[in-house]
Amino acid sequence: MNDLAGKHLVLGLSGGIACYKAAELCRALVKAGATVQVVMTDAACQFITPVTMQALSGRPVFSSQWDPRDAAGVGNNMAHINLSRDADAIVVAPASADFMSKLLHGGADDLLSLMCLARPLDTVPLIVAPAMNREMWANPATQRNVGQLKADGIHVLAVGQGDQACGEVGDGRMLEADELLAELVAFFQPKVLAGHHVLVSAGPTYEAIDPVRGITNLSSGKMGFAIARAAREAGADVTLVAGPVALPTPHGVRRVDVKSAQNMKLALDEIALSATVFISAAAVADWRPAAPATHKIKKDGSGDVPALTFVENPDILAGIAASERARQGMLYCVGFAAESHDLLTHAQAKRARKGVPLLVGNIGPATFGHDDNALLLVDEHGSRELPRASKLVLARQLVAEIAAKLAN
Ligand code: CTP
Repeated sequence: MNDLAGKHLVLGLSGGIACYKAAELCRALVKAGATVQVVMTDAACQFITPVTMQALSGRPVFSSQWDPRDAAGVGNNMAHINLSRDADAIVVAPASADFMSKLLHGGADDLLSLMCLARPLDTVPLIVAPAMNREMWANPATQRNVGQLKADGIHVLAVGQGDQACGEVGDGRMLEADELLAELVAFFQPKVLAGHHVLVSAGPTYEAIDPVRGITNLSSGKMGFAIARAAREAGADVTLVAGPVALPTPHGVRRVDVKSAQNMKLALDEIALSATVFISAAAVADWRPAAPATHKIKKDGSGDVPALTFVENPDILAGIAASERARQGMLYCVGFAAESHDLLTHAQAKRARKGVPLLVGNIGPATFGHDDNALLLVDEHGSRELPRASKLVLARQLVAEIAAKLAN
């Protein structure tokens, strides 16, 4: 997706083994539609060559403040000024402990730090992705620097956790390229849900018949996962309760995996106590086998088939929408309707039956498993179509709609 179309980013590399990830990041940024100007410190050039970064960004790399080449066509030999003036952001990835300390003190003895110091504060945000050994990261000096950089308005991204190049294990790894891309895409989204705790349910449920079999449905979870991502991009704290699906967790989203409708209800009821928005995108099974067998049901050779009886699952959404918090306006509930026909009629009836202010209708067979979808938003005023688009685009539109309703 062209999530960064029209954006111009200056990608700065300071010295660290994580420079190899910056190559992957550069490629991902270009693929997402951004133009990328790479600036490297001398230390970064020890880890990865400017040739690699030039090939991936499609632009000559700058690493010296004395470089007479003229990237912006200004002709004044001031790369530290000209490189940042048309940037939508400067992203330093990796940002070494030393480079962060230099930023903190306003040091400017190389092109990258000089350019960061000379950037227009109001128009060119600075985002840094720390990368260092766990002891360096935990050192009070680094933590103090992180706190002060944030106070100075610099966006310091989180670090990853795990095996480090030095052989130690702990906090301090630079985020992976796909996580950094997600952070940067999110950075440019309006923070319309900042301060909210959004709870999203997604995917199918699985109702056991015996220990090796069960019934489920064709929901892929893609719509709910896209909504969780869009809500996080909009600045919310997000918890995603997912039925059995093999999708990766959107970056920055807290995920709780569940299997059956009853498991899902337990998790959602509990988390809804602290949520301010609940978006129920899961395709919850309406019925479950009344008495799942504890052992595998075997054929007995007679040709008889087992007689399955079902009981109805609780309606999770209706329960939460009727809760004290929802009735007092502290929890805004959004339902989905997966229909096969007569979408508007069914969606309107379902909105009333579930007791939710907003219901999102879609055609089940046209959405389950697909990467795109079309939605019908039904509220107390009527209905509005969101035409077919990728699920992430629709999710962002839905999040904007919910934010506008909350603001009113
Ligand atoms: N839902 C729920 N608990 C259930 C069934 C559905 O919370 N036991 C939620 C879904 O997550 C969705 C909404 O209710 O937000 C509507 O789900 P849908 O499957 O479309 O409708 P049903 O309630 O199953 O009604 P029907 O069988 O009439 O289509």
